Amino acid sequence: MRTPIIAGNWKLNKTVDEALALANDLKGQLSDLNDVEIVIAPPFTALAPLAATLTDSPIVLAGQNCYPAEGAYTGEISPALLRDVGCRAVIIGHSERRQLFAEQDDFINQKVKAALAAGLKVIFCIGETLTERNENLTFEVLEKQIRMGLSGLDSAAMTRLTVAYEPVWAIGTGQTASNEQAQEAHHFIRGLLSQLFDRSTAEATRILYGGSVKPDNIDGLMHQADIDGALVGGASLKVGDFIRIARFKRS
Ligand code: 13P
Repeated sequence: MRTPIIAGNWKLNKTVDEALALANDLKGQLSDLNDVEIVIAPPFTALAPLAATLTDSPIVLAGQNCYPAEGAYTGEISPALLRDVGCRAVIIGHSERRQLFAEQDDFINQKVKAALAAGLKVIFCIGETLTERNENLTFEVLEKQIRMGLSGLDSAAMTRLTVAYEPVWAIGTGQTASNEQAQEAHHFIRGLLSQLFDRSTAEATRILYGGSVKPDNIDGLMHQADIDGALVGGASLKVGDFIRIARFKRS
């Protein structure tokens, strides 16, 4: 069985003090939870203080992005420096990076490889826009993003990678994909991973859903066979909401 992951992507929110308060609340209130992996991705400025706070907690600290090189790249952050500051994972290919910062699949592939090579786990994000869905291009778009984004990876590398399916039209809109829409996409993704790698790799890979995940829709999503967790944006900023999501009920 795949251990579920509930990950909070705090995006560009929270001062250091606010981040510490939220992380301490989560640490205290989720300490009994041992069958779900909890990941939080605060802004870069909060990583070091949070790493110090979370040393005695299983909560995994993740970066929200990285650059696939080191040196003269003003304003960027490398996987090695994320590790150095206490991150064990990094989000790569988020739709906000793809859409607002024009990140392309081959660049995302370089980041995935660099992050894995540096010893980080990767949460690799994919998802179609509303126009693409309306034009029946969803599977085509997901396939391209996966084929290119995961190009050159082998099954061993895949043990440290989690896929996050985040339909762009569901992010921050309050319009979650239906349980059926999400399951259909996840099932397609798992089938493709089976083709590209092998069946056991596909069965072992966690596939998270992201896009307006809230306390009132998490249980239905987690009930789906191929949904192994959630990547949560807005609701991860509110302690009560995130805790309820982390304590989802599958039945
Ligand atoms: P929302 O949960 O705010 O829709 O954001 C989802 C997301 O982008 C997580 O990475």
